[in-house]
Parts: sequence; C-alpha cells; structure tokens
Amino acid sequence: MEPENLEECAHCSKSTTPSNTPKWRRDFPIEWEGDHYVSRREMVKFLTLGSLLITVGNWITVAIGRVRPREVSVAGGRYVGSAAALDQMGSILFRFPTDNDPCIAVRAADGKIHAYSQVCTHLSCAVVYDKRENALVCPCHRGYFNIEEGMPMAGPPTRALPRVLVQQEGDKLFATELLV
Ligand code: FES
Repeated sequence: MEPENLEECAHCSKSTTPSNTPKWRRDFPIEWEGDHYVSRREMVKFLTLGSLLITVGNWITVAIGRVRPREVSVAGGRYVGSAAALDQMGSILFRFPTDNDPCIAVRAADGKIHAYSQVCTHLSCAVVYDKRENALVCPCHRGYFNIEEGMPMAGPPTRALPRVLVQQEGDKLFATELLV
C-alpha cells in the first residue's frame, strides 16, 4: 500500500514524498507538461498558415518574373560568329552573357536571325536545331520550341527559351542582350 501524502515529480512523473521536493518548487509550482503541450488544433493551424504563406510567396515570385522580364546586356556585345558560317550551317553555338551560358543562333526560313539560350526550360538539357522539323529540339524528352519566338510547341517544356538579341555588323554577329 502506498503512502497517502505522495506527490508527483514535475520532471519524471514519479511519485515522491513531499519531503523530497525542494522548498522552492513547492512555493512556485510550475506545470511543466502543460507548458510544453501543443494541441493538435494549434499544430494544424500552424502548418496551414505556413503552407499558405509559402504558396502566396511563390505566386508573387512567379508573377513578378512573368510581368517584368529581366534583361542582361553586355556593353559592346559579344562575338557570336560570322553570318556566312550561320548561313552555311543553319545554326551556330556561342556563349552569352558569360562563358557558362550556352546559346544557339538560327537563320530562320524568313531570313531573320533568331538566337536563344540553349538551356531547355524543362530540365536544362541543351536544345539543338532540327532543320527538317524547322524547330529547336531538346533530345532529352523530345521538347520542341519554335524558331520565331522560342515558344514551346510539344513535349514537356511550358516556358519559352530566353531570347538573345543579335546585331549584325558586316559579316560579324554580336549578341547584345539576353531577355529572361
Ligand atoms: S529537358 Fe528538355 S524536354 Fe526535358
């Protein structure tokens, strides 16, 4: 049989006699378990609010990116290649705005030069020019982009390729701006 005057220890839930409990604890009883208790309702409320804030933040970021295209320009432009080489090969590869950014320039059927980032907007494989299809094609998942605007036409990509503005000076082509 247990003694009647047992008290419960605040830390370990073991029964202790009042004589084992320090005087300061008896004078200032703190409900430790109640203090750390988080109800299921509070947890659900916290998670819902957190998810909502993240979702709204993502929407705002996407909206800003769509409304205001970023531009990267290089003073004086960057040499792409010769117009003659482009006419001969149909497309040429170059790097813009840095050496780490592969791009592709294509002479379209209408005679205009169109240039884009070569990085597929799906999962970043390199797109290539397919003359027969008259399209930029990503070999990874058969993504197709049209030559005139870089817009996705088929396959998984949903965003256009970033366009590179190219200027021609005589036979020389220079990339001047990247529109992201
Ligand atoms: S990486 Fe280009 S279609 Fe998937």
